[in-house]
Amino acid sequence: MTLTSDKMRFWSPEVRELEPYVPGEQPKIQNLLKLNTNENPYPPSPKVVAAVQAVLSNNADALRLYPDPDATVLKQAIAHQQNVNIDQVFVGNGSDEVLAHIFKAFFIQKEPVLYADITYSFYPVYSQFFATQTKQIPLNEKFEIDVSDYTQENGGIIITNPNAPTSIALGLDQIEQVLKANPDRVVLIDEAYVDFGAESAVALVNQYENLVVCQTTSKSRSLAGLRVGFAIAQSHLIAALEAVKNSFNSYPIDRFAIAAAVASFEDQEYFETQCQKVIESREHLVSDLTALGFEVLPSKANFIFATHPQHDAALLAQQLRDQGIIVRYFNKPRINQYLRITIGTDEQNQRLVDTLKTQVL
Ligand SMILES: Cc1ncc(COP(=O)(O)O)c(C=O)c1O
Repeated sequence: MTLTSDKMRFWSPEVRELEPYVPGEQPKIQNLLKLNTNENPYPPSPKVVAAVQAVLSNNADALRLYPDPDATVLKQAIAHQQNVNIDQVFVGNGSDEVLAHIFKAFFIQKEPVLYADITYSFYPVYSQFFATQTKQIPLNEKFEIDVSDYTQENGGIIITNPNAPTSIALGLDQIEQVLKANPDRVVLIDEAYVDFGAESAVALVNQYENLVVCQTTSKSRSLAGLRVGFAIAQSHLIAALEAVKNSFNSYPIDRFAIAAAVASFEDQEYFETQCQKVIESREHLVSDLTALGFEVLPSKANFIFATHPQHDAALLAQQLRDQGIIVRYFNKPRINQYLRITIGTDEQNQRLVDTLKTQVL
């Protein structure tokens, strides 16, 4: 909506200056193949669906009463699955909300928070929202994070692992270098995509008092529609996140989300099988696209980042869209010749490859 400056006078000066995040498109096109927002192509565990249905059938008060503000059963399920104590778990309404609380709880406003120049585009939005100084650290020429760049003075650090949209993962030895170099600052590892083949820094949480790991159920657990994210850290950091949360919204996770996420964490076998399927489809798609002349960065995520030396990326995205296939294109310096493509089922990936072969390239 375009507002006249007359109507904008009601907006606070800070809100007038905001540049909000623009989510990937959720278009309503028939026979659409949506490979643009890194959702999982498979449904969640059948046990998740049953658990949601049971909320209403087992509890006549399910809608009338507030949910548990601490989502204790969910924290227990996550603690069990992640092999940590319950006081090391924080849950929020999607990891985007958890990230917001992390900004508020830990990052020092007047010193720059360090994150990569090419990474999740919500970080600059939160930086502006929380009036946090930032310094963007360029990825190297291979689009990798060089951890030796994260030793300079800072008010906190964000490492996205695997990084988005580049899909490349760091090893835990490199994460440890960052943690050791910054003992008095919180280091956030955003692991939205870690379950598709990268190593999780949750294994380091008990060793490092400055480490917060953030994960989501949106990608590897097929629950983007539910909005459940979580953080794992030592209990002194979780206590700060609880203080922020209880100063903002005491009930961020509703009963349906609690029940569904618990069922998902309890069905470890389904989770592992589904992640493996996506990983195998990714490898297959990478080899098919490489055969078509694409250069694909080494991915440990449920998406790939690809460029074609002979074809303009913006044009490719438009041509695919004309055929009902939506991929993500970022018109930004350094990456404006790349496409971010979410891994679909084998059939969906085949449609992408066939369309490229017969209609586009
Ligand atoms: C790197 C990264 N972090 C966090 C999120 C947020 O995930 P959600 O709010 O669905 O948990 C995303 C979503 O795309 C992401 O790419």
